[in-house]
Amino acid sequence: MAQINENFIKIPATYLFSEIAKRVTLHKEEHPEVKIIRMGIGDVSLPLPDASVDAMIKAAEEQRKSATFRGYGPEQGYAFLREAIVENDFKAKGIKLEADEIFVSDGAKSDTGNIGDIFDKHNRVAITDPSYPVYVDTNAMAGRAGEPTENGTWTNLVYLKCNAENNFVPALPTEKVDLIYLCYPNNPTGTTLTKDQLSIWVNYAKENNAVILFDAAYEAFITEKDVPHSIYEIDGAKNVAIEFRSFSKTAGFTGTRCGYTVVPKQLMGFTSDGSKVALNKLWNRRQTTKFNGTSYAVQRAAEGTYSIEGKKQVQTLIDFYTENARIIREGLQQAGYTVYGGVNAPYIWAKSPEGLGSWEYFDYLLKEKNIVTTPGAGFGASGEGYVRFSAFSSREDTIEAMNRLKR
Ligand code: MLT
Repeated sequence: MAQINENFIKIPATYLFSEIAKRVTLHKEEHPEVKIIRMGIGDVSLPLPDASVDAMIKAAEEQRKSATFRGYGPEQGYAFLREAIVENDFKAKGIKLEADEIFVSDGAKSDTGNIGDIFDKHNRVAITDPSYPVYVDTNAMAGRAGEPTENGTWTNLVYLKCNAENNFVPALPTEKVDLIYLCYPNNPTGTTLTKDQLSIWVNYAKENNAVILFDAAYEAFITEKDVPHSIYEIDGAKNVAIEFRSFSKTAGFTGTRCGYTVVPKQLMGFTSDGSKVALNKLWNRRQTTKFNGTSYAVQRAAEGTYSIEGKKQVQTLIDFYTENARIIREGLQQAGYTVYGGVNAPYIWAKSPEGLGSWEYFDYLLKEKNIVTTPGAGFGASGEGYVRFSAFSSREDTIEAMNRLKR
């Protein structure tokens, strides 16, 4: 008898964004005449930078000839990309890392989901609420989250509430935790932590031998000075944090797929008898067994974003979405909404009108305004009563959506 992993029965039957896609498809089938504006999943609308496309074409040509053809690459990523990442994303910002602390992958979603493989099932896990659903779902799949409760929380997870009352700044947990998921700039609220606020978490992790899983997928959207782009800007963070990065939102790689994870060599985990083990070694072991590397052409495309032209082209994309975020934030405010985020992030977190739950308001926006958003409750119990607008649509659709809401 092939017994299943019963944790899969405990989690919601569909992943948040699959459920939304299902509802949108149904609405489209019922109303083929309407123009739906998509501000739900954070999927980009602008094409890849030329520098990346040119690099991919060149890589494809290399693959055509036996003299330059490449088969399996290093599971951790090619040296050319790992070194470009170290130079451009870290050294240029005063952070010293080595290429073998960078693990290239097919994106931050996979890595934030897979990282749990190297941690014991009994770790106490703290997750900001609301949060990107992958953190909760993957811990639930691994049996680390305990049992689901009626209000959508899990018995063994420690929720770090982020709401308007605490200005979306999570308080330290009152019980000791071992793993802490932080995502800043935040998905879904679009809010940030200052360096001082993030330092509090680094100090907590040091004092409690905890590890912070820091998702920095949206760092390129930071516009304000005191907001850290990397957790390693905080003293001592290399001893306590793993950082996840993505080319998806910065360079339009949502379909092309490339991201990376930083596991500093000095970062230690513990065996049950308290011996220290380098997490870099464990992640390397996990990746070499379960992952065969991101494709060569895609890694060349990612490398292309670091050329002089590539950097300019990426900045143009970021500026475009940042302007969309401003249009949404101000448009929603003019339409009478209370909104958060959207200054250092491509997400705007809007309060549903009084009395409407997230899913009810999501359905209203879909059916009456033909606008797709993401219901806040899909990101956790504290997201109830909010919807998230993403700033990745075309300019025309962004303006049109705001006009529909003001009408
Ligand atoms: C989101 O909309 O939250 C993200 O696009 C999802 C993802 O990156 O997987």
